[in-house]
Amino acid sequence: MTFLKKILITGGAGFIGSHLVRLMVNKYPSYKIVNLDKLTYAGNLENLKDIETSSNYEFIKGDIVSAEFIADLFKKYQFDAVIHLAAESHVDRSIANPMDFIMTNIVGTVNLLNAAKSNWSSTKNNLFYHVSTDEVYGSLGQTGMFTESTSYDPRSPYSASKASSDHLVRAYFHTYHLPIVISNCSNNYGSHQFPEKLIPLFINNIKNNKSLPVYGKGENVRDWLWVEDHARAIDLIFHNAKIGETYNIGGHNEWKNIDLIRVMCKIMDEELNRPIGTSEKLITYVTDRAGHDLRYAIDATKLKNELGWTPSLQFEEGIKKTIRWYLENENWLNQVTSGEYQKYYDKQYFNR
Ligand code: NAD
Ligand code: DAU
Repeated sequence: MTFLKKILITGGAGFIGSHLVRLMVNKYPSYKIVNLDKLTYAGNLENLKDIETSSNYEFIKGDIVSAEFIADLFKKYQFDAVIHLAAESHVDRSIANPMDFIMTNIVGTVNLLNAAKSNWSSTKNNLFYHVSTDEVYGSLGQTGMFTESTSYDPRSPYSASKASSDHLVRAYFHTYHLPIVISNCSNNYGSHQFPEKLIPLFINNIKNNKSLPVYGKGENVRDWLWVEDHARAIDLIFHNAKIGETYNIGGHNEWKNIDLIRVMCKIMDEELNRPIGTSEKLITYVTDRAGHDLRYAIDATKLKNELGWTPSLQFEEGIKKTIRWYLENENWLNQVTSGEYQKYYDKQYFNR
């Protein structure tokens, strides 16, 4: 079958990547979607069971850190576009072990950029889309928002590695005229997120009557966006962005951690038919994350004005939907927290 476009999505077995792959495979039968993923602890093909036999989908297991493997892959497949999500993504792990982040997030990105540069001629309609994070902008005080022109000020090994990769992607645009676009998004929540991140970790802990480790005083603020709204934004940007541009994506949905945790505790009590107040008793204040950024907030006006994107789901509805998904998908939760994944799930594995 001849496809209109052949798109390489990296990190498609992870949290956001699996939502994006599903959207693209289902929405664009005329595109061939190739999902390249190393299947680290965070990547799981269970996330894509529903589309794995689609005729416009192919999975390839591989490591973006191998330049040779990436070069061969590009030669073989002649991709028209890349949407690059593969990354080490958890801040706490980056504090314990920065090198994996340097290798995958920086070296891996450069390998992809080099392969795209060697294979794409200037006359073709190609695009290298780098999916990035708002953490590159650093930490806000009590007021203000990140815009696309906010200076970079990354403060964790994770955000420094993502900032480096953003800079390199832009450098390939300016130096080699590689057609690129970047988006920087706030915290995502939803189904299929590895339960090391705040929301799925706390849902799983409440379910198992385990303590809820709140870093510091729980006063840090995050701007939460439903993962499917992020995937929709990526689709829109991929198809409509001006080459070389950056777009911020965010939920306009700021929550102090402790307030969010209390809302989750209440919903969990209701869903589990426990007396209201039961889950809150599991809250335990623990030593703060080193260099813990106080607040993130995204100004997504550019994306709204230029491409008409706004979040579709209200947080109150989204968080309930998310909690129900984890409760109804016990097999998924058990699978990703057991067997070979156990050592990655065990909090002792990394020290904050
Ligand atoms: P994730 O950790 O859930 O998934 C990452 C995926 O990348 C996994 O499937 C993993 O197997 C794969 N991967 C890791 N190293 C690889 C390698 N060397 N080669 C090939 N594949 C590899 O991450 P996520 O939360 O889905 O984030 C996806 C992207 O979006 C990342 O680039 C992240 O920086 C960015 N982002 C995440 C958020 C968020 O809230 N989670 C917000 C903004 C931006
Ligand atoms: O802003 C986008 C970023 O959001 C992404 O780029 C990252 O990939 C993603 O992991 C996320 O980073 P955070 O560090 O904000 O997410 P995390 O879920 O780890 O933590 C959210 C907040 O909750 C943060 O202030 C730390 C706090 N926290 C987290 C955990 C895991 C706790 O208090 N206790 C915990 O056990």
